[in-house]
Amino acid sequence: MREHFRGANRGPVRADGRMSTWALTPTAPAGYRLVDVPAERRDEITKVNTWAFPSSTTPEQRAQLVWPLDFSRTRGVETDDGELVAFHASYEFAEHPVPGARMPISGLTWVGVHPAHRRRGLLRAMVDDHLARSLARGEAVSALWAAEMGIYGRFGYGLAAQSVSLTIPRGATLREVPGADGVRVRLEEMSAEEHGPLMRELMAGVERPGWTTRSTPELDAAGLQDPEFWRDGFESMRVAVTERGGEVTGFAQFRRKLDWNAEGPAGRVEVRRYVAKDPASARALWGVLLDLDLMATVEISELPVDDPLMALLENWPAAKPRLAENLWVRLLDVPTALASRRYAAPVDVVLEVTDPRLAANAGRWRLVGDREGAEVTRTQGPAQLALDVRELGAVFLGGTPLAQLAGAGLVRELEPGTLFPASTAFGWPLSPTASFVW
Ligand SMILES: CC(C)(COP(=O)(O)OP(=O)(O)OC[C@H]1O[C@@H](n2cnc3c(N)ncnc32)[C@H](O)[C@@H]1OP(=O)(O)O)[C@@H](O)C(=O)NCCC(=O)NCCS
Repeated sequence: MREHFRGANRGPVRADGRMSTWALTPTAPAGYRLVDVPAERRDEITKVNTWAFPSSTTPEQRAQLVWPLDFSRTRGVETDDGELVAFHASYEFAEHPVPGARMPISGLTWVGVHPAHRRRGLLRAMVDDHLARSLARGEAVSALWAAEMGIYGRFGYGLAAQSVSLTIPRGATLREVPGADGVRVRLEEMSAEEHGPLMRELMAGVERPGWTTRSTPELDAAGLQDPEFWRDGFESMRVAVTERGGEVTGFAQFRRKLDWNAEGPAGRVEVRRYVAKDPASARALWGVLLDLDLMATVEISELPVDDPLMALLENWPAAKPRLAENLWVRLLDVPTALASRRYAAPVDVVLEVTDPRLAANAGRWRLVGDREGAEVTRTQGPAQLALDVRELGAVFLGGTPLAQLAGAGLVRELEPGTLFPASTAFGWPLSPTASFVW
């Protein structure tokens, strides 16, 4: 049977309309069972979650917080006598940006196992459950933020995006950009009503692979909450808004914390996120953020590694850039996923893929693609590159070069001369980064 995929978002469906076989039957270890976790079990979810991620809040504080979860996608593990001891959920990112296109992605989140039940296979059962359910919904790709680097590779997730964190000294010199003087910067205390729509629109206008945006009203509200008990000595959240001729051209969400040392004021500015629609607005915005009185440093995390700020800063090493991991990606349906993105250069390559968890992905796939589209077909022809599904996840958003993984022995070039063209095609002009940690 010839299988033929053309970037549809239909899930594990073959060209003849029949379901493919995805040999994965999630089972919990003896003494446990996988269950749906409805909203009425919120207190039990909080218990598992705060055991897994140590933190403590009072019931009054918790009552102030928004629940960002979609309770049609919340799952967990309970003991035979009904105690919830592990939990996970996923977000539906129906229009998630991938290189040159958008596709449905299942965002795995809130993964936690009560420490009294760890290392018994509950995470393994939950990941299998997530993979099977995402596939059944027609989501060909799963993505996540990992708490630790060592956890998810074994399940076929590859690190697909990286970001940088900066600590910029106050007054750092920025390159001049024509027109920056004509941009007005307003500084305001953040208000969900006023700034929510403005920030949402600017975030949605960014075209960058991996740029997950808040796809539901709950996720949106969660991004705007700013309770006192989260402030850790910082002021309430502020927003800098750039405008030219009455039109909003960018924003930065930030807050300050006053401090003093023997040399004088040593305050910190924390910039949560920023978007600028044009270079002059970025220059004007950062000109203000880097020159706030009584502040010594300006910190920003989860910045794309190719963010224009890195080029605006005359002395970027002084900002002590630290590389950090960002999104992990798992291809659940390899042909649909590969056919759903675009390629930076024409590519025609046969990949030999291994996938110990989802057997239908294993074998040889011919990928033919370019900037306009892509097709993936099963083939018996000779393979040119061999790699595990984990490495396909790592290169999927265009941020990790195939050639780099080949240098580490994770991709094998079976036919000489095929690696570099494929590596160029899988790359992308913009480096992938998510717009928020979920
Ligand atoms: C990480 C966590 C979910 C693991 O759950 P668990 O039920 O103990 O995991 P399992 O028993 O199913 O382990 C599956 C495999 O992952 C490995 N593993 C589990 N946690 C790991 C970790 N933190 N680092 C590296 N490997 C880990 C196990 O050793 C096991 O390996 P194997 O395939 O060689 O047998 C759990 O310890 C936890 O909740 N930690 C705190 C919160 C957290 O980090 N959550 C993840 C958020 S992304």
